[in-house]
Amino acid sequence: MFDIAKTIWLLLPAYTPNNFAVVFGGGTPLDFGKNFIDGKRILGDGKTIRGFVAGVLGGILVAHLQLLIERILGFQIYSKLQYHQFLQLVFLLAFGAMAGDSLGSFIKRRFGVERGKCFPILDQLTFLLVAYAFASQSPAFGSLFTPKIILIGIVITPLLHLAVNVVAYVLKLKEVPW
Ligand code: CTP
Ligand code: MG
Repeated sequence: MFDIAKTIWLLLPAYTPNNFAVVFGGGTPLDFGKNFIDGKRILGDGKTIRGFVAGVLGGILVAHLQLLIERILGFQIYSKLQYHQFLQLVFLLAFGAMAGDSLGSFIKRRFGVERGKCFPILDQLTFLLVAYAFASQSPAFGSLFTPKIILIGIVITPLLHLAVNVVAYVLKLKEVPW
């Protein structure tokens, strides 16, 4: 149980960027409206420059709030790291999450899945795998993300996604429970 809570805590800088993109996104699409060689959009209108930047900054902001909460409640996960190592790690988690989110859209468009339509597993795991790949380039990654934590992240992320969506549906924030 503690490991699950710790995994969620460590992954918040990768989980939250897409929410910032939803709130602050819009404007010029990342692919500038261009099509790929298959004649379909490279990424589609759901991936915007402003959303990407807001997502990365939002993830970094959340990580700083986590540092604050760790200090107030007196536990050390992210605050164990030296500040520059912390900053590098959470930047890579947030940037990787947004890059992975875009890669997911690239793959969806190649399969002919329209913008906004769901593609189970891909929608929930691509961002996480790319966030891991980017973050693993930080020297601090291994001290916090043990193989066990990494695996728990892969298992719980689709389940969390489902749980959050069901709650949003019950609260009538969403039209469908997925
Ligand atoms: N968003 C954005 N820029 C990003 C990512 C997301 O502006 N880089 C905004 C868009 O308004 C998008 C919404 O957040 O519609 C929801 O994000 P997401 O579910 O990732 O995009 P979809 O619209 O579902 O598009 P896709 O099918 O390509 O995933
Ligand atoms: Mg979507």
